[in-house]
Amino acid sequence: MTGFDTRAIRAGMTPDPITGAVVPPLHLSTTFRQDFPGELLGGFEYARCANPTRSALQENLVALEGGTAAFSFASGMAAEDAFFRAVVRPGDHVVLGLDAYGGSYRMIDAVYGQMGVTHAALDLSDLTSLDEHLAQTKTRVVRIETPSNPVMSIVDIAAVTDIAHRHGALALVDNTFATPALQRPFEFGADAIVHSTTKYLGGHSDVLGGAVVLNSSELAESVYNMQNWLGAVSSPFDAFLTLRGIKTLGVRMERHSRNALALARAVVGHPSVSEVHYPGLDSHAGHAIAARQMSAFGGMLSISLAGGPDAARLLTTRTQIFTLAPSLGGVESLIEWPSGMTHTSVEGTPLAVPHNLVRIAVGIETESDLIDDLTAALDSL
Ligand SMILES: Cc1ncc(COP(=O)(O)O)c(C=O)c1O
Repeated sequence: MTGFDTRAIRAGMTPDPITGAVVPPLHLSTTFRQDFPGELLGGFEYARCANPTRSALQENLVALEGGTAAFSFASGMAAEDAFFRAVVRPGDHVVLGLDAYGGSYRMIDAVYGQMGVTHAALDLSDLTSLDEHLAQTKTRVVRIETPSNPVMSIVDIAAVTDIAHRHGALALVDNTFATPALQRPFEFGADAIVHSTTKYLGGHSDVLGGAVVLNSSELAESVYNMQNWLGAVSSPFDAFLTLRGIKTLGVRMERHSRNALALARAVVGHPSVSEVHYPGLDSHAGHAIAARQMSAFGGMLSISLAGGPDAARLLTTRTQIFTLAPSLGGVESLIEWPSGMTHTSVEGTPLAVPHNLVRIAVGIETESDLIDDLTAALDSL
């Protein structure tokens, strides 16, 4: 199964051997009968340890990212927490990008900070400073997010991973925005990938979830232990819905990317807009790197408003099709004001988001409707 869409549709989707059902059944059972104590049928014992529907999703995620093991969780944050619990110890240091997802920063700062894990938020496009920082610290993990949420900056995965490895650190990539349909971090040397599957993998704004994907058995055993021992697993129904969403991931990402590029181009130069942040634009600082490591530029963009924070807030109330709501990755277009909504947790930190920034999750509706709606809203400011 070499093609991405074939893998997305077929991996983990073995027809039910008893009924022939093409869509494998949703297994809700929490416990599994044994013929003799300890002799498991198909490896299943108790649903926190393993469940057939979750296993099917995990097998699918391995095939999508090109890893060797995947573990699915109740949310993106639960997944990232399991990864960090598995690998960091008191005295370790973690490096994040200057514009990492606010919730991830909060977790490293507030939760792991209390456990004696230190951190620094750095501009990961400044490779010399990163190299110097890693030489002076006991860094265990460099956390890469590209494109980043919400300012859409791009990190060179291969270059940062190379530096991390030279200093004995692991390179973790949050691949939520790009998805494996557009970017596969293991091909650039990354050690681990985390996802909020709540977003594009689920794809319909109706299921919360997260995943860790790995390509080494040592890390896989540690993350599996965190999944099994602590139990923040995805429910069978959530796994089933996520698997269903993934089948159309490839075609959705193509349309998300096409719509977002058209929308970005349509609002560049609008008098109400001071800057459009979309890696598909030639003018974007990370465009060349994004073009190298992504097959298209994704469905997320943000815009800086010339009229400042008031104009930014107002814009989010003036669209008809773009719904004012947090989150992203569903088929429907959303608009939000990060500094007062999704990113309040980083206010006052080095990761604080400009107050004149509006984030747009471009859906897969008709391109011309989206352009008309956003330009009319900008005209009204
Ligand atoms: C890039 C990124 N990573 C991780 C998360 C956390 O995922 P979840 O909300 O599923 O816990 C989010 C949520 O917005 C996100 O945007």
